Amino acid sequence: MGKISDLKQEMTAWRHYLHAHPETAFEEHNTTEFIIDKLKSFGITELYTDFAPTGVVAIIQGDQKGRWIGLRADIDALDILEDNDINYRSIIQGKMHACGHDGHTAMLLGTAKYLAENRHFAGTVVLIFQPAEENEGGGRVMVENGLFDRFPIEAVYGLHNQSNMQLGYFYIAHGELMASYDVFEITVKGLGGHAASPQKGKDAIVTASQIVTSLQTIVSRNTNPIDSLVISVTQIHSGDTWNVLPQEAIIRGTVRTFNAQIQDMAEKRIKEISQGIAMAYGAKADITYQRRYPATINHPSQAEIAIKAATHIVGEDKVIIDPKPSMGSEDFAFMLQKTPGAYVWLGSGQGANLHNPAFDFNDEILTTGVKYFAELVRQELGK
Ligand code: NI
Repeated sequence: MGKISDLKQEMTAWRHYLHAHPETAFEEHNTTEFIIDKLKSFGITELYTDFAPTGVVAIIQGDQKGRWIGLRADIDALDILEDNDINYRSIIQGKMHACGHDGHTAMLLGTAKYLAENRHFAGTVVLIFQPAEENEGGGRVMVENGLFDRFPIEAVYGLHNQSNMQLGYFYIAHGELMASYDVFEITVKGLGGHAASPQKGKDAIVTASQIVTSLQTIVSRNTNPIDSLVISVTQIHSGDTWNVLPQEAIIRGTVRTFNAQIQDMAEKRIKEISQGIAMAYGAKADITYQRRYPATINHPSQAEIAIKAATHIVGEDKVIIDPKPSMGSEDFAFMLQKTPGAYVWLGSGQGANLHNPAFDFNDEILTTGVKYFAELVRQELGK
């Protein structure tokens, strides 16, 4: 695959351009335009922009008919002020590519260029440049808008760079890789009054404090110790001054797990505990619980294909099978619910962590990513 190595310089230039021009959820207009310009320059003309407000889907036909597969890259940045002294530093104040999606985009563009010039495969490759991976679920939006209904995609693949994991190593799970992501808000309604006469009120702050402490028992007392569940309270808001018991306290937090039954149990227990404690203190609790991203769970047969492809590229000793999953989440999960596929991590070596203001994607893995995608196409659509 000498040709892919030749793409390195060009891909690095694209990556640096994207890094300097970060855009966040559903505002990736310039990024989308850049992607479309490049795809057209490779002679790719079948492009769709109607699956999400931003992002683009490109179709590459092989020189023979066959099955359809999807390759996906996320294209969005984060609301972080960049702390890097590099000549392609973000020129958009307060936004930066701190998760390496600039690198993922450059990799999929490199793959597009390679496949457009090397169509010796039997079938169709759908390149999915997905917006709004962070927070807003662009993956869900594309699925809801019929990406997998309009095109008969039989398998879908994605990857994510991981800093502080071994450079050039692939980490591939047969099942669970990343957790589900839910959020909750509990509004404790007490009876406000003078802080000097607590007996005349119902203390929302004391009630909220008991709720926060008791929520910890869902993990420690209601969950099988062998299973994974995280419940983190991340915000408490109440009160304005020294001598007033506030009427209300608001608690917010997040729930992460891999298992739908545990997710149901956590939601149910959050409600029971909050309402029960509120009642005990003469207050009331209103709870909203929102499921944001499902768990990212690979399909075993596509994981096997991913392992084969990665092994072909980097060798058996650099493919870590069934790594410890992460309690982070990823909206590729929506695509995996719709069609079989596999999501893998590609180690990028020592450096700042993802989402850190000093993070910068490691350009050394650009061609590794393209080789992996090209090999997946060969495995899936080889003649
Ligand atoms: Ni990311």
